[in-house]
This record gives sequence, C-alpha cells and structure tokens, in this order.
Amino acid sequence: KKERTLSIIKPDSIKKNIIGKIYKIIKKNGLKIIKSKIIKLKKFEAKIFYNVHKKKFFYNKLIKFISSSKIIVQILEGKNAIKKYREIMGNTNPKKAIKNTIRNKYGKSILFNCVHGSDNIINSIIEIIFFFNL
Ligand code: CMP
Repeated sequence: KKERTLSIIKPDSIKKNIIGKIYKIIKKNGLKIIKSKIIKLKKFEAKIFYNVHKKKFFYNKLIKFISSSKIIVQILEGKNAIKKYREIMGNTNPKKAIKNTIRNKYGKSILFNCVHGSDNIINSIIEIIFFFNL
C-alpha cells in the first residue's frame, strides 16, 4: 500500500557530502521525495523529537549530534515506504547493516549513522506532523 515516512539526513551525511548519493538510493528504490527542507534543530526541539530515548545512556550525545548542524528532513512516499526505507537504510549499527545499505556504505558508528527513518505507521504520522505540521 502507498505510505509516507519521515526521513532525516543527519549532520554527518551533510558534512560528508553524500546527500546526492542518498537521493540516488532513495530514487532507485522507488521512493519519491514529496517534501524536503533543510533545518537546524534547536536543542529543545531535538529533545522533543527523541523523547523516547531520554533514559538511554546515549541520549545526551544523540541530542548534541542531531542539533549540531543542519539536517534535511523529507517526506518519502511509495509502496510500503516505511519498511522499504528501513531496508535501504540498513541496521541502526552500520557494522551490522547489510551490504549496500546507506548505513553500511556511509555510516561511521551507531551514533553517526547518516539517516533516520520512521519505524512504524504511528510514528511516521507523529514525525511528519512534528517537522511539517501536516
Ligand atoms: P535513529 O534511527 O535516528 O534513532 C535513534 C538514534 O539513536 C539512532 O538512530 C542512533 O543514531 C542513536 N543510537 C541508538 N543506539 C545507540 C547507541 N548504542 N549509541 C549511540 N547512539 C545510539
């Protein structure tokens, strides 16, 4: 079924200049970028977005990283977009990610893992509203 998912291209990807490569992988896999903007999160916004992780040991580092410089947020649309994007991103840990996934190719560590994608339909709606207000 046709779905939408929220994608974040994280600060490490922008610094590494691999945005074009990520777009190519997205396109090749049949997902369409229907909205996109470049923003820099304030710390308090990052904390709202990643609230579910607030008790985790890596929370402070995660907030610092995601709000450290510009990110690109996108709405991706396509057949089974949520699952599809999670497949092309690869495992959260780049070392565990399958070959040719975004995180396998470009991720440096579990923190610096290039991209984010919604993990289920409810979160995709929450995250799309959070960033795009629709
Ligand atoms: P993301 O898909 O954006 O969702 C939460 C993020 O927390 C995740 O990608 C990683 O960047 C980060 N993360 C998850 N586990 C760890 C960990 N063990 N150490 C550092 N960062 C982590």
